Amino acid sequence: MTVGMQQLPRRGYRHALFGAVLAGLMIASTAVGASTTTETPSIFVPASTPAFAIRELALIVFGITGVIFLVVAGLTVYALMRFRRRRGDDGRDPPQVYGSLQIELAWTVVPVLIVVVLFLVTARYIFAIEGRPQPPQALEVTIVGHQWWWEIRYPKLGIVTANELHVPVSDPERPTPTFLTLQSADVIHSFWIPQLAGKMDVIPNKTNRLWIDPRKPGGYVGQCAEYCGLQHAGMLLIVKVHSREDFAKWAAAQQAPAREEAGVRAGRELFASLSCINCHTIRGTPANGVFGPDLTHLMSRWTIGAGVIQNTPETLRAWIDDPAAVKPGALMPAMKLSRDDLDKVTAYLVSLR
Ligand code: CUA
Repeated sequence: MTVGMQQLPRRGYRHALFGAVLAGLMIASTAVGASTTTETPSIFVPASTPAFAIRELALIVFGITGVIFLVVAGLTVYALMRFRRRRGDDGRDPPQVYGSLQIELAWTVVPVLIVVVLFLVTARYIFAIEGRPQPPQALEVTIVGHQWWWEIRYPKLGIVTANELHVPVSDPERPTPTFLTLQSADVIHSFWIPQLAGKMDVIPNKTNRLWIDPRKPGGYVGQCAEYCGLQHAGMLLIVKVHSREDFAKWAAAQQAPAREEAGVRAGRELFASLSCINCHTIRGTPANGVFGPDLTHLMSRWTIGAGVIQNTPETLRAWIDDPAAVKPGALMPAMKLSRDDLDKVTAYLVSLR
């Protein structure tokens, strides 16, 4: 289904990133109908109120700056043609003009007025977006930026996941927007889903807010938009917008306790004895670390390493064996497990659907 997955994980992880994005989008589009998915996240294909406002503003700014470009370029071309060197020129300089109050006033005042207009229009849009009060039916989600992945918490639903934001569609008749609280665990990141809202910095010791109200179901991609270290480019976000019913189903599945399949008992016990549990949580088990992603429903996610690689039993095994081989710089250490132990831990994690 995606190209280049066979050669993973030791080679071509950048291709894997691309492959994983496509994989996510394909899954999203098969689930909800291909017409709702765009393959290039563009601000000109908005799907949520703040993004519509941003496109409107962008078009106004492009319009004004486009006119300025045409006037300046047009005058330049005119001057080049009209005053070009001709046969028979006497070679003397044209009359030199110093200090014209009118001209200087014109080229100072006009640009200042244009900048003031752009400033006022932009400020109006910013206040309109940021001033939207949170309605009682809004979904609340806390996003925590980490080097290099996104922690996604639904405090009222008791759900913790990673790198994939699931939200219900928001019908303009009966809006159910999602209000996001943005925090950082380490350095400055930036949360950006071009089709749903503007960029918002994710800053340590500061809480920022953002809201989205996607109007149609589908898959949308976003990306960390502030350089945050080696794997800044490996911080993909996938947003899955569900119908109300599907969102309720997804939430119920995420709220369920971790599976305890009899066949993977050896792996479960081994996992609980390893230092994995200091960084990862699997609800209902001794694993309660919060440094890495929550693994309670690991296999419900499309990718590993925030979009770096598609999540399959084979890639998961390779990731556990040596995360840095798949995502150089990843902070998860290679555990140096024996082949046998690696198989057991992988089998256990693969059972966490
Ligand atoms: Cu996180 Cu760039």
